[in-house]
Amino acid sequence: MRNNMKIAIIGVGHVGLVTAGCLAEKGHRVIGVDNNRNKIKQLQSGKTTIYEPGLPALVSRNQRKGRLEFLDSIKDGVRFADIIFIAVGTPLGAHGGADLSQVRQVAREVARHLNGYKVIAEKSTVPVGTALELKNTILRYAHHNAKFDIVSNPEFLQEGNAIKTTLYPDRIVVGAETKRAERLMRKLYANFRAPLIITDLNSAELIKHASNSFLATKISYINAVANICEKTGADVKQVAYGMGLDKRIAPYFLQAGIGYGGFCFPKDVAAFCHIADKVGYDFRMLKDVQKTNYLQRELFVNKIRKALGKLNNKHIAVWGLSFKPDTDDIRESPAVEIVRRLAKAGAKVTAYDPQAMPNARAVLPDKVHYAHSRYDAARNADCLVIATEWNEFKHSNLKRLRKIMKKPLIIDGRNIFEPERMKKTGFNYIGIGRKI
Ligand code: UGA
Repeated sequence: MRNNMKIAIIGVGHVGLVTAGCLAEKGHRVIGVDNNRNKIKQLQSGKTTIYEPGLPALVSRNQRKGRLEFLDSIKDGVRFADIIFIAVGTPLGAHGGADLSQVRQVAREVARHLNGYKVIAEKSTVPVGTALELKNTILRYAHHNAKFDIVSNPEFLQEGNAIKTTLYPDRIVVGAETKRAERLMRKLYANFRAPLIITDLNSAELIKHASNSFLATKISYINAVANICEKTGADVKQVAYGMGLDKRIAPYFLQAGIGYGGFCFPKDVAAFCHIADKVGYDFRMLKDVQKTNYLQRELFVNKIRKALGKLNNKHIAVWGLSFKPDTDDIRESPAVEIVRRLAKAGAKVTAYDPQAMPNARAVLPDKVHYAHSRYDAARNADCLVIATEWNEFKHSNLKRLRKIMKKPLIIDGRNIFEPERMKKTGFNYIGIGRKI
């Protein structure tokens, strides 16, 4: 492999681990580094630490081929690599901005071990200006003649479809200050068939926050439209379809539901509002996007309350706990928040999720029950709530479901069924922005 390079990825969470596996798959030699020894031990023994379709096979194949290994030493990673990725978490901080403590800590440690020219690539989602700040930090902590360039290389992978969205991205964005760094990054991505754009550091960082915030805006927009559909007897699926055929609008991210969740959109939208405030621009539109998003969960719980009369002592089955299908990730999951509210209001909740139950159990109140299957969850239920659109839910046996439930009531927060068909099967079916 002509273009093969040596890469260190510091932080093997969802982004770091998928990036490590995918770069190794492209023929590069990759070391994944993390200070969590248990995680590293688990990865060394061939077990992946998150649920992501295709990831275990990708990781073990590249480990076997000797292209991918895992260590807990930043020093060894830095000494080995031509390009060092910083992919540690940037959670929401106390004041609404991103908490950069892990990124800064890693930058200081990388600086101490620099040997020869390296590119240090920021993969974590960070506020505009962070790369320039890190450059100064590294200059301060590195040996006086250390040679390095900092680049910003935001990631656009989607959980649940992470391998595909990493190996076949719509675009690769590289913020670079020097031709030397640009050359190395072009070499790294030489085998990817995607447009690679070179920008300045600040613009690359802004592309990431602006993209996530724009997608979140699309979701809140269609959720607002869904609420109007409910008041006017229109159908949001038809409206979204009609809108999405316009190439300028596009059909993606127009699925109305219970709002966006996950580790990225909620914190990135909040961080972008915070950045805007800091530079003196009141980004009111984005603040409304957040409000609309959280209101959507509230409206959904109200819908359930209205349909059931009261929530206390009602047996409610909930299908789905992860923030989206094909992941076990429950961070900022609207489904988890809805279960929490239902349980608090006195409902007897039995939940089922194909992958996320262990994670949900750790954060939800003890009185929430968990079932082995979607049908077990629905048995004797007064109402079935659909909170995540896993594929298996879409292929349910509706007649069987109708028989085992106490009352034939489905409240679908993800619009996975068609109201007409549900009516024919004997269900009282309530979706989001659908004709009832
Ligand atoms: C998002 C972005 O899509 C990625 O491009 C980005 O790389 C990633 O954040 C990140 O910053 O790391 P992700 O959080 O994995 O990816 O999930 P999405 O598929 O974007 O979904 C986010 C949330 O929006 C989910 O809760 C999903 O259910 C919701 N959503 C999505 C809707 O409610 N309606 C839609 O039409 C689409």
